Amino acid sequence: MGGFAAVDVIRTKRDGGVLSDAQIDWVVDAYTRGEVADEQMSALAMAILLRGMTPAEIARWTAAMIDSGKRLDLSAVPRPTADKHSTGGVGDKITLPLTPLVAACGAAVPQLSGRGLGHTGGTLDKLESIPGWRAALDNERFLAQLAEVGAVICAAGDDLAPADRKLYALRDVTGTVEAIPLIASSIMSKKIAEGTGALVLDVKVGSGAFMKSLETARELARTMVELGTAHDVRTVALLTDMSTPLGRTVGNAVEVAESVQVLSGGGPADVVELTLTLAREMLDAAGLPDADPERALRDGRAMDVWRSMIRAQGGDPEAPLPVAKETEIVRADRDGFVAGLDAYAIGIAAWRLGAGRARKEDPVSAAAGVVLHRRPGDPVRAGDPLYELRADDAERIPAARAAAEAGVSISATPPAATPLVIERIA
Ligand code: URA
Repeated sequence: MGGFAAVDVIRTKRDGGVLSDAQIDWVVDAYTRGEVADEQMSALAMAILLRGMTPAEIARWTAAMIDSGKRLDLSAVPRPTADKHSTGGVGDKITLPLTPLVAACGAAVPQLSGRGLGHTGGTLDKLESIPGWRAALDNERFLAQLAEVGAVICAAGDDLAPADRKLYALRDVTGTVEAIPLIASSIMSKKIAEGTGALVLDVKVGSGAFMKSLETARELARTMVELGTAHDVRTVALLTDMSTPLGRTVGNAVEVAESVQVLSGGGPADVVELTLTLAREMLDAAGLPDADPERALRDGRAMDVWRSMIRAQGGDPEAPLPVAKETEIVRADRDGFVAGLDAYAIGIAAWRLGAGRARKEDPVSAAAGVVLHRRPGDPVRAGDPLYELRADDAERIPAARAAAEAGVSISATPPAATPLVIERIA
């Protein structure tokens, strides 16, 4: 592969042209090898953000990112495989109950996850609050656990789409994360390289999501479904509401505890609804349309898989979870109904409490987070607890409280109910 000058590739896109297959293959490979410099890739990413890409360019870019690393071969796994990806939200712990639930219904779930950055939490950070649990698995152990337990949630290896790892870090500091072609190719290159046969995308819409508007969320979802389908992955997307946090907890250990409630047959209605809806989509896409996930939650089979999955990675599913040293309860100042509980505000509060990180090398607190005592639509009396702020360090609480207070409102009449699942794109 060879023969291009990075500056010509940049100029082509800057001027609104279409990149050739050869240009795309070259620039992605040369960037991964360090031959194209960060400043050149930054300029190209900005040109892509401003000019966009054709569907053919996005498909080729995704293929080049997949080819920058290894593709996992799941053909030895004796069950159909199905995975889920969420574009990230506040209180989005769905992967935790969903993965063992879908495995309990007969599919294998190869869930390669990441850590959180900013106000949205990461699945691995949440699971690391379980004493002993380890995120790192080599390929051999990953495949063995997938075959034996049917469920794995672990860190993606360095050889999975390495071009994306490098490019994502660059986009993060150059204001180019928001380009739909780059988001779609970033997510789908990792999921296709992971080798799953079926994929359900949970594309979040609202204040706590990447995509604040329905139009951009829809465009992202359509682009990703097309990419998956073109690579023979049965792909479906749901657009779901992220204007308010999911469930009653935002943080790490608190979200694990809530997930265990769901696996015990309880838990908040919205978390149960989204878990079951995504499970049905995954099982359908995996060719298991007669499976009954509701029953698997009720009869304890999903919980059995959860325990095996946690134990297989060194965790103790019965061990007590870390508890925060400092707690502050914020109460309603008047009677009425909770009208607004803004996902972004609560996400920032949890982050300020220590549940999230500002830079990717920062540690997170297992015990910090927000526990919601009331959800939108709930009636309240003056003095009732609205939410609880938890931290390891009392000094973190005032700034977190200021963020949360700005996002919570009480009105005299109940707000209109909004649907959780907004649209399905297949
Ligand atoms: N998540 C990803 O993996 N990549 C993006 O570009 C955005 C969100």
